[in-house]
Amino acid sequence: MYRFRRLRRDDRIRSIMQETRLHPKDFIYPIFVIEGENIKNPVESMPGIFQYSIDRLEEILEQVKETGIGGIMLFGIPLHKDPQGSQAYAKDGITQQAVRFIKEKYPDIYIVVDICLCEYTSHGHCGMVKGEEILNDETLPYLVKMAVSLAEAGADMAAPSDMMDGRVAAIREGLDQAGFTQMPIMAYSAKFASAYYGPFRDAAHSAPGFGDRKSYQMDFANGQEALREIAADIEEGADIVMVKPALAYLDVLKEAALTFDEPLAVYNVSGEYAMVKAAAANGWIDEKRIVMENLTAMKRAGAKIIITYHALDAARWI
Ligand code: PBG
Ligand code: ZN
Repeated sequence: MYRFRRLRRDDRIRSIMQETRLHPKDFIYPIFVIEGENIKNPVESMPGIFQYSIDRLEEILEQVKETGIGGIMLFGIPLHKDPQGSQAYAKDGITQQAVRFIKEKYPDIYIVVDICLCEYTSHGHCGMVKGEEILNDETLPYLVKMAVSLAEAGADMAAPSDMMDGRVAAIREGLDQAGFTQMPIMAYSAKFASAYYGPFRDAAHSAPGFGDRKSYQMDFANGQEALREIAADIEEGADIVMVKPALAYLDVLKEAALTFDEPLAVYNVSGEYAMVKAAAANGWIDEKRIVMENLTAMKRAGAKIIITYHALDAARWI
């Protein structure tokens, strides 16, 4: 009989044997920035998460600094929406302003920007719309404009989440031509059409006005196709590839880790956060232990980067 329990006898030997360890730098924390002044709106379905106006951002940026997490990911919420999502690439758009503010006041914070139009379009889709159709190639120039304008504002990394075909290549080319050859792209590569995004769409005011996102986001039944999406994004020049959501897709993440050498990110999404917070609020689970178990599982499955609303709490619990 092999005595596995010899190496589990007490905390000292258990901690020596631990294969996967979380570090605050593993985490990227999503932040919602809303137009206006003196705003800190709680997101009802995401306890502990708020929409901040720029003049109230410091409160949360101080915590980002203090916990030493890897970085932040910005989601802008504009007042004005139109069919072309023009505030996504306006020079003084809400996200551009937020990036400039953070770059100036907190130059040490690493800023990832989500590249997608759904928060900015009046129809709430991630691309240009004709009738009921979400157009692919017509959308690409707008995504490129958004990425370049946020690079000009000072963003450190671009993370396209729209799921249009060919967007990574288009954004890479656009960034290079504008002189941003050193800006990395983290592609939301295997992004599934998921009910787990529900709370986010309340937080970011980005629910589609008609239909759903199934013609561009992936069918959650498809694991093979996820690997092809990831391969295509690597081919197009993605520096980091992502699987999203996390928990119901750890098989995809693991498979990707075994298949590709490129760094992997995983997005622990809003619905996953909401479920943990709701059960914890009822006293049905131990929040701290559940969060650490979930995040460790994501890293164990192969994630180098974990984008999570638990980032600040988890960094303090490590
Ligand atoms: C924008 C975007 C979404 C999320 C990240 N970027 C929403 C969506 O695709 O509908 C979801 C994040 C979350 O649920 O936490 N396309
Ligand atoms: Zn979108």
